[in-house]
Amino acid sequence: MAESVFKDNVVVITGASAGIGLEIARRLAKDGAHLVLGARSADLLEQAAKEFRASGARVISVPTDVSDRDQCEALINAAIREFGRIDTLINNAGISMHARFDELHDIEAVERITAINYFGAVYCTWFALPHLKKTQATTRPEKPQQPHDAWRAPAAPQKTVAIIVAHSGQCKVKTAASVNRPSSIYVDFS
Ligand SMILES: NC(=O)c1ccc[n+]([C@@H]2O[C@H](COP(=O)([O-])OP(=O)(O)OC[C@H]3O[C@@H](n4cnc5c(N)ncnc54)[C@H](OP(=O)(O)O)[C@@H]3O)[C@@H](O)[C@H]2O)c1
Repeated sequence: MAESVFKDNVVVITGASAGIGLEIARRLAKDGAHLVLGARSADLLEQAAKEFRASGARVISVPTDVSDRDQCEALINAAIREFGRIDTLINNAGISMHARFDELHDIEAVERITAINYFGAVYCTWFALPHLKKTQATTRPEKPQQPHDAWRAPAAPQKTVAIIVAHSGQCKVKTAASVNRPSSIYVDFS
């Protein structure tokens, strides 16, 4: 079987304590990636880290609330301290809510979602981008049409990979310079 493009890739993934993020991390660990796991639940993160280490992966867990800018910076700094570089950032952490806007009792729920789903991805991208650029990422995913489409490996193995995803679809960041419209987050290295 061909070696995974993620072999020895340093991947920071938020929301890695449960659900989709945990499963992505599990798959990346199998592919030989070095993982930096972020989420608020320290115990669940460490449980995941232990599982992945047992299968030979290099993993650190960094309890992080992505709605807090300083904690996002600390997450990225921890990745650099441990691995010296970041190849991939996966902005997966998020919450969701379904309600009619005119039936909301207060606006705080919207503020909370924005803080996590939007600013969480923006903060992590902001702090990681200089490091992602240093790895001279040579590939980027196809521009995602739908949130789940963003999780795509490049067609051919490349030196580094940068995938920046915000599936709850809050914004688009292009080389971290502009936040244009509600869509998916991705960073274009061209
Ligand atoms: N499942 C779906 O069908 C679906 C569809 C569209 C979009 N999405 C989006 O995909 C992402 C993952 O979904 P999921 O179904 O896997 O959700 P999930 O099972 O609820 O997992 C969410 C993850 O995000 C983390 N998280 C939540 N708030 C956080 C915060 N403030 N700081 C850091 N981490 C935080 C949670 O960990 P802690 O609680 O430990 O912090 C958990 O690891 C979410 O952004 C969700 O909105 C999911």
